Amino acid sequence: MTTLAPPLKASTADHALSAVLGDVQAARARVVYPEPLQATAEVIVDALGRAGIEARLELTPELSFRELPAGEAAAGWVPPVSEEEGELLVLYGGQPWRDPFPEDYKVGIEAMKNREAHLARGTQILFIEWPYGARKDAEIDLSPSEVAEIFDRAIAINYEEMRSWNAELLTVLAGSEEVRITCPHGTDVTFSVKDRTFRPENCLLGTKEPDVYLPGGEVYVAIQERSANGTVAFRHVGAPRIGHFQEGILTRVVDANGRPDPALAEELGCGFEPLCEFGVGTNSWSPPWQIGTLYEKCSGTIHVAVGGNKHFGGERDSPRHMDLVVRDPVVWLGMKRLRLPRADWKETT
Ligand SMILES: [Fe+2]
Repeated sequence: MTTLAPPLKASTADHALSAVLGDVQAARARVVYPEPLQATAEVIVDALGRAGIEARLELTPELSFRELPAGEAAAGWVPPVSEEEGELLVLYGGQPWRDPFPEDYKVGIEAMKNREAHLARGTQILFIEWPYGARKDAEIDLSPSEVAEIFDRAIAINYEEMRSWNAELLTVLAGSEEVRITCPHGTDVTFSVKDRTFRPENCLLGTKEPDVYLPGGEVYVAIQERSANGTVAFRHVGAPRIGHFQEGILTRVVDANGRPDPALAEELGCGFEPLCEFGVGTNSWSPPWQIGTLYEKCSGTIHVAVGGNKHFGGERDSPRHMDLVVRDPVVWLGMKRLRLPRADWKETT
């Protein structure tokens, strides 16, 4: 048995709920969380109680995700629509199983269908991700408590400050056409966002954001699917990689020595998937390491993604969406250089 990460701090849960719930009127909440993370689920339930929301907790046994048929398994992550609508749903924010298993993506697809059905009925959903334990890759070797500390800080951010950065970025980015991104690690890519609308992830539950993911914070846009040309330097499980794009499409993935990485190329949909998203991270305490979903939120970085963008204003319909985080970027909007938010996470590295 590997060591579990310590739970979310009660003070962080209180802080985040008061920032995220806004004018949510729900009197009751249903919390569905993976059983191994029961301690964090109980912290969330207690914090909801202090916020005046009566919450009941359902824990999903870890093995059920891989042992039940996909539709039933998905109910342990995002429950299907029921008569109980009107409650706030509080669910797990990442993939809720600890280790991958064959065809786990099918559970994910069913869970996202359930999510769409809830949102269509006006149910609000708060997704909170919490790590299981240690994290090690080519770049990092973090203990369970170090990983927990990273998530705690990224959930305990100053939400007002993050939202004001989002507002400033939206003002500067609105109406942009050509974007050029360079970085000292090998990025030099241009693409068009003409006629596309930048969106903020403000983590404020309401009609504009009927579902919120914590940790969060970014501004993002669907790229014109045929427009990207150039190179993007990113890391894959800690190791440097460069993706080449031509007329929008990913054409090659190579390592630091220029050698092809066919496995990653296949995973990314090389040969047919386009560069589909441009996002600017605004969570000042998210580091850029691939731990769960927080790395694309990292302040001081930008990310682009390969795959589908139809769900946020683009034309590419694909279940694949893989984020590539660019570190130390310089973003040019024509002759204007984009100012990026302060990166507090650097203080600890
Ligand atoms: Fe994004």
